[in-house]
Amino acid sequence: MPNASAKPNIVVDSPLSDSLRRMLSERCELLPWSATEQGTHESVTGIYTFGHPHLDGSMMDHFPELKVISNFGVGVDHINVADAISRDIPVGNTPGVLDGATADMAFALLMAAGRKVVAGDRYARSREFTVYDPGYMLGREIHSQTLGIIGLGRIGYQIARRAIGFDMRVMYHNRHRHENAEQQIGVQYATFDELLQQSDYVVISVPLNDETRGMIDAIALNQMKSTAILINIGRGPLVDTEAITTALQQKRIYAAALDVTDPEPLPRDHPLLALDNVTLTPHLGSATEQTRHRMAELSIENLMCGLTDKALIHEVTP
Ligand code: DGY
Repeated sequence: MPNASAKPNIVVDSPLSDSLRRMLSERCELLPWSATEQGTHESVTGIYTFGHPHLDGSMMDHFPELKVISNFGVGVDHINVADAISRDIPVGNTPGVLDGATADMAFALLMAAGRKVVAGDRYARSREFTVYDPGYMLGREIHSQTLGIIGLGRIGYQIARRAIGFDMRVMYHNRHRHENAEQQIGVQYATFDELLQQSDYVVISVPLNDETRGMIDAIALNQMKSTAILINIGRGPLVDTEAITTALQQKRIYAAALDVTDPEPLPRDHPLLALDNVTLTPHLGSATEQTRHRMAELSIENLMCGLTDKALIHEVTP
């Protein structure tokens, strides 16, 4: 007879943050990710993904009683959702709770790249900084410039609101028009090409899928103004790494700010890392203490709902 009071067994990837491990351990027994590689584990009813481990159907099949996959984060491109759906396993994610933090980060990158914040910090600390020079480190204006947002979802909308506050003109490109957003905050719809050609700053904020993979390639980069700045806050493979490296080396565009790269991390000797006109951060989009805590709570709620046969708070749809 199964012990009704026993905690459910779930598989987790590592490393988990200490606080998350504590929160999960209060409710579940945690088994290591290696269980996805061999054997049949009938006692496992949940999988919890934290740091984007690859998860496909052949791995799910090690768990015949699997009831739920819960992901810490909104992007689920590391999980084969079609495989999960075909096995009737719901996949949970955490939209909504991270929009503000991710939009803040997009704006931080936009400003850092436009106003040379990182290079300025380096110079201000260096021995070379001996005298103020009004001619050095000139950046690009932010207010009064045009921002093009590719993907006006929850995060894109928050980025647009910040940009309006900075007196920017905001264009967006999206699969569907957002007439409400157009009326409420004054964003303008543009085709993909119009957006690339007219924007001073281009922010990419779309999920990674077969349609969006490599959408910023050499052709797209060639359409951008030579003074334009590209910001990627979504997923690395949205931008063709070789194409952006060449565009920056040849100064085809002014700069880029990439929170995500393909691969991630880049090999330590990758030529992109040697360029001055790129600002890089290690996938920090939603990395604030408050947002991470909300993501933990929501992902655990999704997990517990699935484990107890209830509908998830947020289930990924195909
Ligand atoms: C997300 O939510 O997709 C972030 O990239 C963190 O996983």
